[in-house]
Amino acid sequence: MGKQYLLYMVQVHLNFRRAELESLADLFGITSINFDNYSEDSPFFKVELDNDEQARDWIKRSILTRAIYEYWGEGENMDQLHTSIQNQPFYEENKEKFANDTFKFDFESYRGYGKFDRVKQIESFGYLAFKGKIRMKNPQQVYTLIDEYVPISENIGGIVPIKYYFGRLIQHGNRQAVEKYDLKKRPYKGTTSFEAELSLVSANIAQVKPGTFMYDPFAGTGSFLVAGGHFGALVIGSDIDGRMIRGKGASVDIGSNFKKYGESERFLDVLTMDFTHNALRSNLVFDTILCDPPYGIRESIKVLGAKDPEKFIGKENVEIDGEKAFLRKDYIPTKKPYSLDSLLDDLLEYASQRLPIGGRLAFWMPTANDEDVETVIPLHSNLELKYDCVQEFNKWSRRLLVYINRGKGYDGTTNSGLQRSTANFRDRYFTNFNQSQK
Ligand SMILES: C[S@@+](CC[C@H](N)C(=O)[O-])C[C@H]1O[C@@H](n2cnc3c(N)ncnc32)[C@H](O)[C@@H]1O
Repeated sequence: MGKQYLLYMVQVHLNFRRAELESLADLFGITSINFDNYSEDSPFFKVELDNDEQARDWIKRSILTRAIYEYWGEGENMDQLHTSIQNQPFYEENKEKFANDTFKFDFESYRGYGKFDRVKQIESFGYLAFKGKIRMKNPQQVYTLIDEYVPISENIGGIVPIKYYFGRLIQHGNRQAVEKYDLKKRPYKGTTSFEAELSLVSANIAQVKPGTFMYDPFAGTGSFLVAGGHFGALVIGSDIDGRMIRGKGASVDIGSNFKKYGESERFLDVLTMDFTHNALRSNLVFDTILCDPPYGIRESIKVLGAKDPEKFIGKENVEIDGEKAFLRKDYIPTKKPYSLDSLLDDLLEYASQRLPIGGRLAFWMPTANDEDVETVIPLHSNLELKYDCVQEFNKWSRRLLVYINRGKGYDGTTNSGLQRSTANFRDRYFTNFNQSQK
């Protein structure tokens, strides 16, 4: 029989939380997690696991989990909590096992701030009879009392707890990464940079693994490359816009971001390239493709080519200083507009060719929240759509779509080549959403 553990999660990005937990469990081969007790309404989730090692593996890189505890008990007041602790089947065994370890007590509050005499509270656990020394720094065990409240209003926390939980800390999640990669502190960033928290969550749901190869075809300022690098992948990116790749000088570019984070060895390179005219050799395999394709709002969707090819007939012969113009370093190739639908079709096809079986493609797609407009998710016959996690804004939303490459035998539904969006997202963004928000 396994042991009971308690997860304490953040109560944001609820649409992504379970996907992250499931993806991390799968990544570490933990197949036994029962999500019956899981609720989006609660930051707490009680779950049975084989052992502490499994709990550590599962949660150590979770962005949306604060910590996982070995569950010792719960109650609506302190008396109930103490009774619950003493009635647990593992109570005597646990007490014995950790009796001589150094320890400390820690406190967490969810949506409230009860005024307690914490020393008195600690003393009320006297029956645990720990004999080890109290150590505030690096103790062997941390026992945590969590109190939960119903807040008085959105902004005012509660005062009287409705619930107490008690447990032994097994593993903190990876919340410190959100701070480390905060855009505010990033040397090279721009209007397209993606916030740290959800880019890290995306990398977790995409199952970016240490020592593997990750590609972002629309790298921009490299937010997803940074997230992939954090989880130990070797990352490569491309972008059609050379200015993005060049950055703002030698010390303010994507490479310098990696340097700041002390992760330069994970950054392979970035190249200026139109994704739809891909120059990376066709038998190059990427373990993960993670990106944020152009929405056509802050940057237009363009690919190499001429809008009006007729005008370019014969232009390939133009020479400057005896050199073909299009072969010169300063040549700026013509670009033509392209639709988001076609670009996403290309992305899915590319992923089906370049990912190993089981490899994940994850990307963000914008959608409108208009009631009369159906959202059609792009589908490819070799790719299983695993997650569709929505982040809602007022009039529009964006969703993280995650696919698993199942190979040719999969024979899934496809809607490639069809016009899925009924109107240009950029037009709708500027006409409908923005006006009605004012
Ligand atoms: C939404 S932004 C991605 C931003 C990026 N995640 C970041 O951290 O800055 C989309 C990027 O795709 C690039 N792009 C647009 N069309 C492209 C194409 N055909 N091939 C490659 N990149 C393209 C744009 O230049 C832009 O930098």
